[in-house]
Parts: sequence; structure tokens; C-alpha cells
Amino acid sequence: TGYTTLDGGFVNTASTKSAITYIDGDAGILRYRGYPIDQLAKESSFIEVSYLLIYGELPTSDQLEDFTDRIRRHTLLHEDLKRFFDGFPRNAHPMPVLSSAVNALSAYYQDSLDPFDPEQVELSTIRLLAKLPTIAAYAYKKSVGQPFLYPDNSKGYVENFLRMTFGLPAEPYEADPEVINALDMLLILHADHEQNCSTSTVRLVGSSDANLFTSISGGINALWGPLHGGANQAVLEMLDRIKDEGGDSADFLRRVKNKEDGVKLMGFGHRVYKNYDPRAAIVRETAHTILQKLGSNDELLEIALKLEEAALADDYFVERKLYPNVDFYTGLIYRAMGFPTRMFTVLFALGRLPGWIAHWQEMHQDPAGKIGRPRQIYTGYTEREYKGVNGR
Ligand code: CMC
Repeated sequence: TGYTTLDGGFVNTASTKSAITYIDGDAGILRYRGYPIDQLAKESSFIEVSYLLIYGELPTSDQLEDFTDRIRRHTLLHEDLKRFFDGFPRNAHPMPVLSSAVNALSAYYQDSLDPFDPEQVELSTIRLLAKLPTIAAYAYKKSVGQPFLYPDNSKGYVENFLRMTFGLPAEPYEADPEVINALDMLLILHADHEQNCSTSTVRLVGSSDANLFTSISGGINALWGPLHGGANQAVLEMLDRIKDEGGDSADFLRRVKNKEDGVKLMGFGHRVYKNYDPRAAIVRETAHTILQKLGSNDELLEIALKLEEAALADDYFVERKLYPNVDFYTGLIYRAMGFPTRMFTVLFALGRLPGWIAHWQEMHQDPAGKIGRPRQIYTGYTEREYKGVNGR
């Protein structure tokens, strides 16, 4: 049709302007609102980074206190919504449970659905940040057949989530401060990554003026795929398989290079990074320290290190500029913390939430904003004449 350019997968097409996150994939640079990821990971907190992404600036201490307090006041789920979890089979994957429950928020909290009312947007933002850890913990509790715990709002964001996940009603639960800090840092590393698949989904759903809850639910579904957030689960399953098959990482890499049965080295490669993913470098270091501290002598870490070393020295990966991405080592840490493999992508969603919200809000603040509606290049039949069923 003359005016339509084809760029499958948006390999070279910007879908929007954005002032939230900067990536230089060749140099391995990632910054949120101008702040380098390694500084934020080391010195900030997930709540502070959430504020930064959503409001554009680091909070003052009063702003941080107010933000934290508002989130704390919304951690409870409506009692009826809690029964929603019983409708799922016990062996359900927690990702569809998570996205369904988030979508259901638009049924339970109808006073915060208007994308053009700043107060309602603010309320739905706070509600999402507050309730997602509760929903995530309940999805886990459902899968292990344990009772749900109410949030304990005397605890911090991550600590509260850990308690709701691993705590039991009759027993006191004290989360290990090392685990709290490491999980907080991992959430920071996942908090935004510009126009990735799930964020683009949140924007696309939101561009029809759909409410924030339902747009975020769409993002959670996009995140679940193994090429995106589901990669952290896929990496662990890959490492497990290599271990079960005798631990021969060289043979596994041979199969990847021959593209046997579409086998990929999960946790490697990235659309934007053609250099070491700066997040992966931080996670790699944390994997070592946290596994050591938790006394978890994980054989899978050895396999992962060997795989990485061999891949980085191999022409196939060098020529294609394939490096470990954020998902390569995270699963090992989550596992050492006690999370089952199926919860890994849920943890990614908890981290990515403020980024999704920031992009949804940025999109609505753009006066030139339009509904997302890509064009196509039609490859089907030209006109055909309809024949009744007896004439076919
Ligand atoms: N293992 C083996 N070969 C790979 C891999 C891999 N992990 N990744 C890319 N390649 C090859 C690919 O087969 C292609 O080779 P050829 O030119 O011979 O056909 C070449 O490298 C270019 O890859 P591509 O598929 O065109 O790259 P893309 O930008 O479309 O895909 C990706 C990016 C992340 C989907 C892909 O690298 C991949 O599937 N990686 C494994 C899954 C994964 O770890 N995903 C997490 C991404 S980071 C966090 C997140 O977003 O959630």
C-alpha cells in the first residue's frame, strides 16, 4: 500500500517517546530517570525506586514517608476477592492466578478506574503497589494448601511479602535481613526496562483508555512467556535438565548451536543488549554471596557458571553478541530463598509493576497520545466470489 513499512517484532521501530528509562545496549548501560542502575541497586530501596519511576524524581524524606504510608494502608484484599483464589485448581501456575486477580481489582475497586481523573489514577497506583505482594503471596499459599495470612503493616514492603508467603498463622516468622535486602535489590533491578514486551502491552491495552488494573493484567500475561519474564523459570528447568542428564554443559551447548529441537540457552541474549546486561553482572555477584550465606551449596550454580564461561568463549555466541541477561542467575537466588520455580516469574512481576505504571501514566500525559493501532501488509487472497456450501 505504499505507506506501510514492515518491521516485525519492532526491531528498529520506536513505538513512543519516553523519559523514564535509558538503555545503551552496546555499552551495557541502564539508567532509571538518569540514575545508573548499579547505584540504585546498591543504595536505594524498591519503594524509593518505584516513586522515582512513577513521579520522575527521587522522593524527599517526607514524600517517601507519605508514599510508604499510603501503600501500607492498602495492602488488604477485599474478603470476597480472597475467595476468588478458591476457584483455581491447586496445581494452577501462579501467573494466571496473579493476572486474573489483578484484572478482578477493576471489579472490586470501581472508584479508581477513570484514566483521566488524576486522583483515581493515584489511588489505583497505590492500590496496585500495595496489593500485588498480597495477591502474589496468596497465589503461593493456594498452591501449597496453606491458610492466607493478613498483611502485617508494621513490616516493610518486602518483609511483609516474605512473611505472607512463608509465614504460618500460629508461628512467629522472622525474615532473614540478608534475604530481605537481596530481594529488595532484585526488585529494583527488574523495576523498568523501557519498551519491552510486557510494558508495550500495558501501553497498547491502556491506549484504548482501558483502566490501569486491566492494562497491568495484560502486562502480567505478556510477561509470563519464556522469551520474556518466564525465562527465569525456564533457566532453572534447563539447569535441572542438564544436571539430570549428567551435568554435561558442553553437550548441551552443542545442541543449542545445532538448533536441535529449537533448544536455546535460556537466560542468554537480548534484543537491546549486545554486551553484558548490567543487571546480570549485579545478579551474578549476588548469587555467589547469597548462596554462600544461606549455606546453599547449589550444584546448579556450578553448572550455570560453566555454561556461561563456555558460551562466552564460543564463536556461536560471540558472533551473535549473546551475553547472559538478568534471568540467567536470578532463579538460583530465588531458589536458595525457598521460592518454588513456578513463583520466579511472579517475583519478576512484583519488580516490574512500578515500571508498567510509570509507562501507563506517561502515555496518558502525552497530549499527542493516540490509540495503538499498527498497520499490516496484507498477504491473503484478492477478491473471491462466495459459493454456497453445496457448490464448494
Ligand atoms: N540461545 C541460542 N541462540 C540464541 C539465543 C539463545 N538464548 N538468543 C538468540 N539466539 C540466536 C538466534 O537463534 C539468532 O541466530 P540466527 O541468526 O542464527 O538465526 C540470533 O541469536 C539472533 O537472535 P534473535 O532471536 O533474532 O534475537 P531477538 O532480539 O529477536 O530475541 C531474545 C531476543 C531475548 C528473545 C532471545 O535472545 C532469546 O530467546 N533468549 C532466550 C530467552 C531469554 O533468556 N529471555 C529473557 C530476555 S531478558 C529479560 C526479559 O525480557 O524478560
